[in-house]
Amino acid sequence: MLSKKIEKALNEQIELEGSSSQYYLAMASWAETQGMNGIAQFLFTHADEERLHMLKLIKFVNERGGHGVVPTLKAPPKTFKSVQAIFELVLEHEILVSNEINKLVETCLKERDYTTHNFLQWYVSEQIEEEALARRILDKLKLIGGEKGGLYLFDRDLETMAAAESAAADKQA
Ligand code: FEO
Repeated sequence: MLSKKIEKALNEQIELEGSSSQYYLAMASWAETQGMNGIAQFLFTHADEERLHMLKLIKFVNERGGHGVVPTLKAPPKTFKSVQAIFELVLEHEILVSNEINKLVETCLKERDYTTHNFLQWYVSEQIEEEALARRILDKLKLIGGEKGGLYLFDRDLETMAAAESAAADKQA
C-alpha cells in the first residue's frame, strides 16, 4: 500500500511524464512542418516513449492501492527557433526529469518505501540513457553548425535512430 505522500509524489511524476510527451509531440509536429521528417519521426517516437513512462507509473500506483490520476496538461509551445534550440530544450528538460526522479527516490528512502524505490530504478537508468542521447545529438548539431548539407544528413540519421528506438520499444512492450 502506498502512503499518501508517495502517491502524491508519483502522481506529480505522472504529470511530468505526460507533459514531456506533449512537449516532444509539439516539437515533432513543428519539425514535420519544416520538412525535417527524420527529426520529426525521432521526436514522435520520443513522445510515445514518454507516454509509456506515464502509463507505467499510472499502473504501478493503481496496483499498489493508490489512484494514478490522468493529469490536465498545459499546452506546449507551437513553434521553435531551430533544430539546435529543440535539442537544447530536450536536454534541459531531461535534466529536470532526472532531478525529479532523484528527489522521488530520496523520498522513498525517507519513507522506507523500498518497493517503490525498487520500481523507480528503471527510471533512474532510463534517465541516464536519455540525457546521454540528448547530449550526443547536441554535439552532432554543434559540429554541423547550421550547415544545410550537414542538417540534411543529420535528419536522415535521426530517421534511422527513430526506427531503431521504435523497434527496441516494441520488444520491451
Ligand atoms: Fe520519461 Fe524522458 O523522461
